[in-house]
Amino acid sequence: MGHWSNGKRGAALGIVFLGVALAILLLPRVGAAPQAPEVANAPAQLSRQATIAGLEEPGERLTISGTVFAPDGTTPVAGITVYAYQTDATGHYTKTGAMRPPRLQGWARTDTEGRFEFRTIRPGAYPGRSIPAHVHFILWGAGYPRQWVDELRFEGDPLVTREMLAEAGAAGRFAAVVPLERGAERAFHCAVNFRVQKVSNFKD
Ligand SMILES: [Fe+2]
Repeated sequence: MGHWSNGKRGAALGIVFLGVALAILLLPRVGAAPQAPEVANAPAQLSRQATIAGLEEPGERLTISGTVFAPDGTTPVAGITVYAYQTDATGHYTKTGAMRPPRLQGWARTDTEGRFEFRTIRPGAYPGRSIPAHVHFILWGAGYPRQWVDELRFEGDPLVTREMLAEAGAAGRFAAVVPLERGAERAFHCAVNFRVQKVSNFKD
């Protein structure tokens, strides 16, 4: 016994202590779901206005203005991150034909009046399919969990069915099929309202 042995015991205790400390630090992370890419990749600084597709992107210019409301449907919610992604004018999410990660995407954050705005182009419908051209939105923040809302579609699109229009009519100002208005310089504009929910509709 003596010095040598005490030193060994000390080293062993040190290792055990380190192990326990590491376990405490790391355990809560084990099994935690990885962050969704749109959350992980969201820019730190966001404002009401964002660009999904710049002027260099081929297609018809489109501005999407929106407002996010609380579950009551009347109170605007500030500080919601609004993530949007869409196909390009040819109906593709990527240059390779893969679905992800979408090339045309953007993030905005609602202002004090719950408003956001995206500058983009009109999406193209998936080639060879009967799904209307659309823009996807995912919302989170301000105390609300990450959630998707019905994709935005456009009146006048021949792929929008009578059922979709009837559903939109019943949804009133929360319709997911909206009219496209043509403004100055032939640019399109549309407005959409979202109602955020307290419970996520994502399975992951
Ligand atoms: Fe899609």
